[in-house]
Amino acid sequence: MGQQVNLPLPNGYQLQDYTIVKPLSSGGFSMVYLATDADTLPVAIKEYMPSSLVLRTGGDIIVPENPDYLPTFRYGLKCFFEEGKALAGISHPNVVRVLNFFRANETVYMVMSYEQGRTLQKEIQLRQNEPLKESMIRLVFGQLLNGLREVHLHKILHLDIKPANIYIRQDGTPLLLDFGSARQTFTQNNPRLSPMFTPGFAPPEQYRDRDNLGPWSDIYSVGASIYACMAAHAPQAGDLRMMDDKYMPAGKLWKGIYSQDLLDIVDWCLELDFLNRPQSVLQLQKELLRNDYKVPEPGLTQRLRKFFSQDMFARKR
Ligand SMILES: Nc1ncnc2c1ncn2[C@@H]1O[C@H](COP(=O)(O)OP(=O)(O)O)[C@@H](O)[C@H]1O
Ligand SMILES: [Mg+2]
Repeated sequence: MGQQVNLPLPNGYQLQDYTIVKPLSSGGFSMVYLATDADTLPVAIKEYMPSSLVLRTGGDIIVPENPDYLPTFRYGLKCFFEEGKALAGISHPNVVRVLNFFRANETVYMVMSYEQGRTLQKEIQLRQNEPLKESMIRLVFGQLLNGLREVHLHKILHLDIKPANIYIRQDGTPLLLDFGSARQTFTQNNPRLSPMFTPGFAPPEQYRDRDNLGPWSDIYSVGASIYACMAAHAPQAGDLRMMDDKYMPAGKLWKGIYSQDLLDIVDWCLELDFLNRPQSVLQLQKELLRNDYKVPEPGLTQRLRKFFSQDMFARKR
């Protein structure tokens, strides 16, 4: 299978009632556009476009790269559709709002409300020398879990929670983007497609023992995302941990920087055995929203470390 770069729809393109403004991002599975609706209000439109199976070399129609890929493409399309239908039933401030869903150009489109802000991943990158503060972590994840609870209530698992799929609006409120379950079903049943997990954020049972998937699987990814806020990188990948666990507990790594309470929560979510993790979002949220934790005072070593890292950063520029 080739991995060519597919062309996006051109700017100004009329897609039913929507006008494409520009592409926002292109991943291996889909493209996301900024567009306007019939009332010229902004929307985000996601186009199902698995780049390993289909081509768009010009115009709007996409064609399979090889006729043999057509059944796989159609199966993925069905998964994308199912996912969109399920999501369309969820209306929650911390979950991306799906407004419309339709077929065109031999593929399928999901229209979402457009949100201004940036991903948590971007936020982490911008603050490399000054990791996110405990108060911000608790606030962001505390609210995000309200959204995740709603998702689980609808019997949907997200299965791709990671900082790149957590979006922070300009007013600081978080929302969940990009539900990966469609992709999971899609790649799981098609051994020719490599699973699209993001190493480090997916729990071990997502690699195998998929019968064990449940709310605790998303909870593992939440723990890994909090870990990434502290470390600026993901923990060791779940499948590798099962073979040779090199995970260094957060409770050891950031002792004295974050409260013991928060570090214990991270280590709890990242337990390899799913039975040892929080079993429900509510259980985790109760711990995260406690207000009797103690954030350590920055010690001298910590202040010096911060001073030197900032100084190095200033010199690099
Ligand atoms: N509703 C939205 N509003 C604004 N930007 C969005 C929206 N949905 C997606 N994006 C942008 O597109 C990027 C990719 O979207 P995502 O749903 O994660 O797709 P994928 O990772 O499959 O390409 C996001 O990181 C974000 O920058
Ligand atoms: Mg994404």
